[in-house]
Amino acid sequence: MSNIELLAQRQQILGNAHLFYREPIQIVRGQGVLLYDQHDREYIDMYNNVPCVGHGNPAVVAAMQNQMAELNVHSRYLHEGIVEFGQRLLSRHADALNSIVFACSGTEAVEVALMTARHSTGGQGIICTDATYHGNSTEIGKMSARPVTDPNFRSIPFPQTYRPLADGANEDELCNLYLKKVQEAIDDFAKQDIPFAGMIVCSILANEGLPDIPAGFMPKAAALVRAAGGLFIADEVQAGYCRSGHWWGYQSSGFTPDIAIMGKPMGNGLPLSAVAANRDLIAAFREKTGYFNTFASSPLQAAVGMAVLDVLEADNILEGATRVGQYLHTELKKMQPDCEPMAEVRGCGLFIGLEWVSDRRLKIADRKGAFDVANRMKQKGFLISNAGALGNVVKIRPPLVFKMEHADLFLNAFAEMLTEIEK
Ligand SMILES: Cc1ncc(COP(=O)(O)O)c(C=O)c1O
Repeated sequence: MSNIELLAQRQQILGNAHLFYREPIQIVRGQGVLLYDQHDREYIDMYNNVPCVGHGNPAVVAAMQNQMAELNVHSRYLHEGIVEFGQRLLSRHADALNSIVFACSGTEAVEVALMTARHSTGGQGIICTDATYHGNSTEIGKMSARPVTDPNFRSIPFPQTYRPLADGANEDELCNLYLKKVQEAIDDFAKQDIPFAGMIVCSILANEGLPDIPAGFMPKAAALVRAAGGLFIADEVQAGYCRSGHWWGYQSSGFTPDIAIMGKPMGNGLPLSAVAANRDLIAAFREKTGYFNTFASSPLQAAVGMAVLDVLEADNILEGATRVGQYLHTELKKMQPDCEPMAEVRGCGLFIGLEWVSDRRLKIADRKGAFDVANRMKQKGFLISNAGALGNVVKIRPPLVFKMEHADLFLNAFAEMLTEIEK
């Protein structure tokens, strides 16, 4: 079916569900980091983090098929698989995180994390950042409101050095200014008689636009939150699974959370998410909620989740992805002096954000420009996107099996694209 016909039919039955690009593309198959449209045109996927070990990874597909053929049931029977998967996953985490709840989507896991924090502290008040996205349920969606207005949530300006709270402040001063915002939110909950439950952050502030975070902010914010009786929650849905140069984004940002939320890449496409915390917290959560999720903690989730871990470990994906990410970062930085709109090259591991501006001195966010870059790169066969608090950050986040040769192809095309937009 042509794209025009498909788009018309899609709109009729799905309404105006969001699509990428000025001219949306129809993807019919994928392998590794490559995606193909209906005319067999090849694209290099530099956006999708879910297929972390590659589209159609044969080991993951085989594990899924085999487990489906053998057994798939809900979690109310004993099964070795999910226990082994939980043990393997927890062994990757800080020692304090030694118990786990499985779910299906990031949103559900964030719900579990907030319920855990609220039940165990007896509080309700949650601090988040002001440009975050943690999911789409009624409760979690409250944190995406601009501004956040629900009385049980307070947002603080997300910590950053590019458009900081105060011009001219050094990094230490900035860190303190953002910490003051955390303390003010804690104090405000107390003033309103809303008992405090904790704070949630994406460990690398991915949806905010991957800002450079003033050094020390995360561990110091965690200390403030704990001093006030709250729990510090790391959303690792984007940051985790070897994406940021470490297994977990919280390692890249120098802190240990009380609760860690995982999602997207865990099942390489099979809906799979989880929450890790210490035994007491998870025990309190289980006792207070009797939580059950039809599709979670299943033999299928376990088999697929472990197949993903197998590939990550056997192919040493952390090291490879980090090396390619550093290379991309360095080479893009070299292009920066001659590229006026590219005001910053940011990120960690295999996750890069390019701050796109129409005026470097005034730091005017250029959302249209970033969107244009994504569209031009699509024309050249590379799939990226624009994101961030102001929509002006060019987002580069390939599957973790992205290799040096793909990076070189991208860098050449990107340089060519820059000369085209200069004209
Ligand atoms: C940081 C973060 N947390 C949570 C979620 C929600 O995950 P899901 O879409 O699987 O519900 C997302 C989704 O984009 C996310 O980026």
